[in-house]
Amino acid sequence: MQVCSTKAEFRGFLDNVRALGRTVGLVPTMGALHDGHLSLLRSAAAECDVVALTIFVNPLQFAAGEDLSAYPRPLERDLELAEAAGADVVFTPSNAEMYPVPVATTVHVDGLTAPMEGAARPTHFDGVTTVVAKLFNIAGTCRAYFGEKDFQQLAVVTRMAFDLDQPVTVVPCPIIRETDGLAMSSRNAYLDRADREAATVLHRALRAGAAMISAGETDPGIVARHVASVIEAEPLASPGYAEVVDPATLETPTVLVPGSTVRLLATALFGSTRLLDNLEVPVP
Ligand code: PAF
Repeated sequence: MQVCSTKAEFRGFLDNVRALGRTVGLVPTMGALHDGHLSLLRSAAAECDVVALTIFVNPLQFAAGEDLSAYPRPLERDLELAEAAGADVVFTPSNAEMYPVPVATTVHVDGLTAPMEGAARPTHFDGVTTVVAKLFNIAGTCRAYFGEKDFQQLAVVTRMAFDLDQPVTVVPCPIIRETDGLAMSSRNAYLDRADREAATVLHRALRAGAAMISAGETDPGIVARHVASVIEAEPLASPGYAEVVDPATLETPTVLVPGSTVRLLATALFGSTRLLDNLEVPVP
């Protein structure tokens, strides 16, 4: 496995790969790899000739007071896990390599970035789309693998690639969960034992909302309030949003239409750790 710390090395490596007629699968991450990331690498390895992982804790997507400096950076361990999961090349740039001067150009996706995470973290998505656009430009033509755990991010990045005609096919990959249902996230490492146990409420709440829809509830407001009430009943959780949305527009439908599919999304704070989760639900 080749490790590149400069854009030129990484771009050159992938240009050579494509010149040989081979396809590239890109997995952008901020490191602290867990089984969710490894499943992205395995999907890329199954569908592409060469798997490229990027590890960069992007300062642009953290607001002041968020966990940028505390974000885990276990690079040696990440490299071992990445190689075992099939990565052929890893891009680990420094901040100075990615942002040699403060950026004057940022990428903003309208609409999809407004609700939920966008409302809770107003500068977050411009930071994400700006760095992902840079990574797509550096990597070139590829399939890029993103987890559905960050469902809004996946929608936003997919729209960016479409609107900007980037030569990238964004591939959604399912959420990987712990055995008790907690969605895997690098931020789970921050949880103490009590918060770790309490955090399972997010998935339970979403499942309770899904059960309501399966039982025939067609009012998204009633479902969202039920999801929120399950989270509120957990004393260690400070609930954020709970939403029922159309997966394409991320807007709340006025009524749940039989035969359609909706996405339930919820967040909560456990101690100082903010976690998010979501679930796809078919409307009977
Ligand atoms: O999901 C993440 O880890 C990050 O938001 C991403 C896509 C790597 C951009 O920094």
